[in-house]
Amino acid sequence: MKKQKVEIQLEVFESVSELPKDIQELMNKAQQARENAYAPYSRFKVGTAIQLSSGETTIGSNQENAAYPSGLCAERVAIFHTGALFPNQEIKAMAITASSPSQVLSEPIGPCGACRQSMAEYEQKQNAPIAVYFMGETGKIVKVNKVMDLLPLGFDATYL
Ligand code: THU
Repeated sequence: MKKQKVEIQLEVFESVSELPKDIQELMNKAQQARENAYAPYSRFKVGTAIQLSSGETTIGSNQENAAYPSGLCAERVAIFHTGALFPNQEIKAMAITASSPSQVLSEPIGPCGACRQSMAEYEQKQNAPIAVYFMGETGKIVKVNKVMDLLPLGFDATYL
C-alpha cells in the first residue's frame, strides 16, 4: 500500500478589484447574470459568465422548476448554451458568483459536483484548460487554472 497526496493550486484574490481587468469584467457580467436567476424555490441565485477566445462572453443563471430535479445550475446553463452557440470556440475562463436570501455570502462558493463534471467535459473536448474563478456575493475570489483541479480522480471519456 502506498499513500499519495493530491495537491491543487489555488489563487485567492481579496476582492474583485484585485482581479485582472478582463476577469473583473467577466465577474461583473456573472453578477448581472445572477440577477436573472429563476430561483423561486430556493431563492439562491447563481450567475456564470464565460470568456471565449474570440473575446465574446456568454452567460447563464440557475433555472429552477416546480419538479425540482428538472431545474439546472447556472454553470451548466452557461456551458451548454456556449457549446450550442459556439461549438468551435475555445473557452478561456468562467466566473461564478452566488447569493443567498438568508445570509450575505462572503466566502467563495464552488460549483457543485455535477457542474464540475460537465465543465470538465468541455475542457477535455477543447484540450485546453479553462480557468475558473468563483466567489459568493462579496469578498474573496478563488481561481483554479483548470477545471480538473476541481475534480481530482474524475471520470472522463478515456475510460469508455
Ligand atoms: N446552484 C447552481 O446554480 N450552481 C451550483 O453549483 C450549486 C447550486 C443552484 C441550483 C439551485 O437552483 C440553487 O442553486 C440551490 O441549490
